[in-house]
Amino acid sequence: MWNKVQETVSFIQSKTNSFKPDFGVILGSGLGNFSEDIQIEYTLAYKDIPNFPVSTVEGHKGALLFGSIGSKKVMAMQGRFHFYEGYNMQEVTFPVRVMKYLGLQNLIVSNASGGVNSNFVVGDVMIITDHINMMPEHPLRGHNDERFGPRFVNMSEPYSRKLILKAKEIAKELNIDVKEGVYVGLQGPTFETLAEYKMVKAIGGDCVGMSTVPEVIVAKHMDMDCFGISVITDMGDVESIEEVNHEEVLKAAKKAEPHVRELIRNLIISI
Ligand code: HPA
Repeated sequence: MWNKVQETVSFIQSKTNSFKPDFGVILGSGLGNFSEDIQIEYTLAYKDIPNFPVSTVEGHKGALLFGSIGSKKVMAMQGRFHFYEGYNMQEVTFPVRVMKYLGLQNLIVSNASGGVNSNFVVGDVMIITDHINMMPEHPLRGHNDERFGPRFVNMSEPYSRKLILKAKEIAKELNIDVKEGVYVGLQGPTFETLAEYKMVKAIGGDCVGMSTVPEVIVAKHMDMDCFGISVITDMGDVESIEEVNHEEVLKAAKKAEPHVRELIRNLIISI
């Protein structure tokens, strides 16, 4: 893994004039067109990058973008890898390893999720304050390479308190309504049954989705600072489970996108 990461990093540096990003952004649902906010200097398709998996889900594109927002250098993953697509957890999280060794410290992740907090409504934007890992496979299982990080990773601050505070300040200034809560990561690809949404709520979750948790775990393994944002695209609270499908999820995510973009753009500029 170490050699693969270094090989990929060298390749990217050779194609980007040794671009050194300050921020990494994983563009999930709700942030797909964030690329329009970046003054892009280089684009590398996943299929052309050695050791990179290729994304297969509708609505997810497959490229690494390099550019700037204001004076900040940013790299973005347009399209992420999900465990349910069949990739193993090392593949799902490989790009995060690469980001670290391209030199960045701050990782921003976005996703769509189903809300189980009764105070939420579809279209809400939730700052992720913590997560519960319910994925069936752990990205750090197996031999630990100490060059990446320790065997037993401290997870007391998976999402940077400093970044959360700053984002809340910005949201207030911009008059963007944000919720806060705990994201529960399940493998999917089925949406939850009513009983499963109830479980998510019972164990302390505010929303549930199929991504983000592995990437944040691997980022913390390498001592990175993370910020996560989730768009509530459907509600699975115990009284009223709605009929949820992928089109509805994309539609709701698209509607919230301007707010999420504005928030992330300002967060990057202000840090
Ligand atoms: N469950 C899991 N993942 C999701 C959901 C959901 O209800 N909505 C969007 N992604």
